[in-house]
Amino acid sequence: MNKGKTRRSFLKKATLGSAAITSAPYIFASSYQQKFMLSRDYRDEIFSSNDQVNIGLIGSGIQGIYDTTAALKVAGVKLVAVCDLYTGRLDRAKELWGGSIAVTRDYRELLDRKDIDAVIVATPDHWHKKITIDAMKAGKAVYCEKPMVQQFNEGHEIINVQNETGMVCQVGSQGMSSLGNENAKQLYEDGAIGEIVMLDFYNDRYSAEGAWQYPIPPDADPSTVDFDTFLGNAPKVPYELKRFFRWRNYQDYGTGVAGDLFVHAFSTLNHVIGSHGPNRALATGGLRYWKDGRDVPDVSITLYDYPKTDSHAAFNAAFRINFIAGNGGGGGFKLIGTEGEMQVGQNSVKVIRSKLGMVPGGYSMIAYTEATQEKIRQGYAAQKLETRASALNVGNTTWEASKDYKGGHYDHFYNFFQSIRNKKSVIQDPTFGLRAAGAALLANESYYQKKPVHWDPDTMKLL
Ligand SMILES: NC(=O)c1ccc[n+]([C@@H]2O[C@H](COP(=O)([O-])OP(=O)(O)OC[C@H]3O[C@@H](n4cnc5c(N)ncnc54)[C@H](O)[C@@H]3O)[C@@H](O)[C@H]2O)c1
Repeated sequence: MNKGKTRRSFLKKATLGSAAITSAPYIFASSYQQKFMLSRDYRDEIFSSNDQVNIGLIGSGIQGIYDTTAALKVAGVKLVAVCDLYTGRLDRAKELWGGSIAVTRDYRELLDRKDIDAVIVATPDHWHKKITIDAMKAGKAVYCEKPMVQQFNEGHEIINVQNETGMVCQVGSQGMSSLGNENAKQLYEDGAIGEIVMLDFYNDRYSAEGAWQYPIPPDADPSTVDFDTFLGNAPKVPYELKRFFRWRNYQDYGTGVAGDLFVHAFSTLNHVIGSHGPNRALATGGLRYWKDGRDVPDVSITLYDYPKTDSHAAFNAAFRINFIAGNGGGGGFKLIGTEGEMQVGQNSVKVIRSKLGMVPGGYSMIAYTEATQEKIRQGYAAQKLETRASALNVGNTTWEASKDYKGGHYDHFYNFFQSIRNKKSVIQDPTFGLRAAGAALLANESYYQKKPVHWDPDTMKLL
């Protein structure tokens, strides 16, 4: 059981900002299969025109579009301008959001505009630090995509500038704001899985798109793609469209599977169990199938050690990615504890609990005579081994978001805009962002160094 915490009701109300979770129970099947519905109450959704937040999007690719779409669903938010380095993406921005938005290839033009309050930074990873810092210095609130940084040392620079400027800065692992993650946190704190023993995370893929072979548009050429600006501080290389449109596949611009995918799991994990993260990582893997010029692995297995803290026991986390999973793909995030397992998603949490077997069954008894077996049975019966009293029935319990739930992406932006309006702290600030990104980057550090690496999750420094 977590120190200082007792098991409370599994069906209580929780609040996040001004939103509240309600969980209305109904019995799914028998006492061994229960299902509860969760919903959120967005009471503060109406804002006056004075509260309108004008945003600009920097990096209008795949995630920039998903981000902006989610942001614009929050009441009182208006898109004013979009920046990108490929003309086709600026055309797409006008197609999606109307011809009146301003478009440019130079993000500094957005930062110079007085009518922009906040920017979304959804560029490749190697641009996050520079644009985030420039934006905060220009007086803009920032929503910076994950991983917050491409290199360990960049994180402290962002933290320092955020402290100096006081600008709101939210990092974009949106799943952490979800109803599923929030309920998982509450369940964990209520002792639903006892003490944590393991985290089991995996992401299996079986498609070219899943393995980051994104399409390269036929009109891409030096007149439509600003390759030199894209390179930024990365090494100068000849013009190559694969590098521009499939930047994840190159260490110079991305962070591999760890920075792309592990980082979400770290955000959820650290949030749910109230942790600063692991202190040791050991990675292996390889480039096994997608030999298309990339220099990052397509198979990765990384093991992490989490040290004991006030909010959790010492435990191990196993992270696995396979981009050539012949089973067709799939994924999972399981917290396994001394009393149960919790499968955490953005829209659902499933808790599986079973009784700990202390009395031997048939397996080991075969080696004893019938008379000895009987004496052993009597001995165990005399001990009257306790059956565990539990707030949940032993069996499976699932919490699912109701159909009208707006989703984690909406909630994450809602939290961002509420923080801007109310000058309150965000759920995923740069310190949190560095802890999640830093933990992920340890996988790359260990993989390329071919040895375990150590990190101080409190000071956020490599050891
Ligand atoms: N939160 C999530 O679930 C999630 C999902 C996918 C991607 N991401 C993150 O979002 C970011 C973008 O990923 P993506 O898949 O959208 O990539 P993408 O290649 O589709 O889009 C990136 C865009 O940024 C533009 N760009 C590059 N450098 C720029 C610069 N200096 N100024 C302005 N624009 C620039 C490119 O032209 C491109 O259109 C990455 O950091 C990625 O890790 C997050």
